[in-house]
Amino acid sequence: MVDKQKKFYITTPIYYVNDKPHIGHAYTTIVADVLARFYRSQIGEDNVYFLTGTDEHGAKVAEAAKKQGLEPQTFTDQVSETFKDAWKNLDISYNYFIRTTEEKHKEIVVDILDKLKDAKTPLGNAVIYEGDYHGLYCVGCEKFILESELVNGKCPDHNKEPEKLVEKNWFFKLADYLLRVKQAIESGELVIYPETRKNEVLGLINKQDLPDFSISRSKKSVPWGIDLPWDDSQKTYVWVDALSNYITALGYPDGKDFKKFWPADAQFLALDILKFHAVYWPAILMALDLPLPKLYIHGFFTLDGKKMSKTLGNVISPNELVEKYGSEVSKYLILSQFSFGSESDIRVEEFPNKYNADLVNGLGNLVNRVTNMVEQYLDGEIDHKNFKDNRVGSEEIKNLRFREALLTIWQLIQKDNVMIDENKPWLLVKDEANKDQVKKLLEELSSDLYIIANSLMPFMPHKAQEIINILTAKKIKKPESPLFARLK
Ligand code: MSP
Repeated sequence: MVDKQKKFYITTPIYYVNDKPHIGHAYTTIVADVLARFYRSQIGEDNVYFLTGTDEHGAKVAEAAKKQGLEPQTFTDQVSETFKDAWKNLDISYNYFIRTTEEKHKEIVVDILDKLKDAKTPLGNAVIYEGDYHGLYCVGCEKFILESELVNGKCPDHNKEPEKLVEKNWFFKLADYLLRVKQAIESGELVIYPETRKNEVLGLINKQDLPDFSISRSKKSVPWGIDLPWDDSQKTYVWVDALSNYITALGYPDGKDFKKFWPADAQFLALDILKFHAVYWPAILMALDLPLPKLYIHGFFTLDGKKMSKTLGNVISPNELVEKYGSEVSKYLILSQFSFGSESDIRVEEFPNKYNADLVNGLGNLVNRVTNMVEQYLDGEIDHKNFKDNRVGSEEIKNLRFREALLTIWQLIQKDNVMIDENKPWLLVKDEANKDQVKKLLEELSSDLYIIANSLMPFMPHKAQEIINILTAKKIKKPESPLFARLK
């Protein structure tokens, strides 16, 4: 990522409304939030755009609505609110929350479809053509599934037999783009990080197992979606509708935000939707003659070794965590458990100890000790003009190493706590001759604390600000109640 760039566009996938927000969705949204806050502090508020939202069309959503006896729109109105609430509770600083059922999005999708319909592939063929689709369709996945992907005749993710479907569809001529997508990946024009995922996508393309994909479904099988503009027997396939959100939100093709922010500087997702983002999406963008984004793929994590799912009932709601720990600590606990990109198991049972060790005894205690001593030994007076905004962990954040950024900050916290233990200022102050030494020590500690607070800004903006307010007050005072209360 280039430092001096004047804009930064960050996206998360838009989440399906057939599910409630869980800790998996929260992880993606939190990393996007940290990066957005970080870049706002680097290049200015107006130059960062952070998009999230909900994916509200398709058979899966219609099915979920039906189960609850609701009209799809009523149902999606309700569930998309639960996502907004969850992000509010986690203090997520998105610039826009897109819903695929909103008018502006639907209008622009129609415009995109019309453009694709008129376009030619690099080999001179029509980008969109009509054909018969014979396929196996898994409603759970919302996609046609290949014979080779089945386990015992069933979709391995949903443990359900797919439906056999033959229907008239409109297709996207992916075949004419595969070589170009491959070249774009190899040349770095399309960034896919980490390397393992990039190689996975290249492997997939080399295997030549990527047939042209449908951009529409017959209304009979999928009645809930955007009408295909030139064929009223068809609805737009939900993935074309969904992927478009990344540009409809910005007001493609003429919107001010679109001109300023596209291509995306960081599109976050997990590997479950890699093919759609790393093959279909770039091909669509090429057909629209648009520049390609950077895709950042994080690990898909399990809970106690199992995939999280509504059926298994092992879903952790971010709201429960926020209730127990508050938003900032919840974000800390989630981000500090594993590195971006690694496949991991979430261990919620470790959260209480981690909270007590790192926040109560680590950061909270340091703030308490330093401010208490400054208050008592120096009458609260420290010249904060000497504080420097030297943040630590910035390089790590730029490289998406969020856990490592936190570790770097916590090393400084640890170092300072040890420095206090070793120097024992409470003994030093007993002798007037040590006055300068104590002052110097407390100055260094306060100035470190200032660095710590600034470094924590993208992760814990409110706690960080609280610390900065204490340190830059006329007189430093120990906080009235501890920054992080011990868990009972
Ligand atoms: N609606 C599509 C995405 C369309 S984007 C144009 C979809 N929605 S989803 O609700 O299933 O969200 C999938 C994404 O949620 C993952 O790619 C990931 O970002 C996040 N996660 C959901 N569960 C997760 C885990 N268990 N672990 C990590 N991330 C997870 O697919």
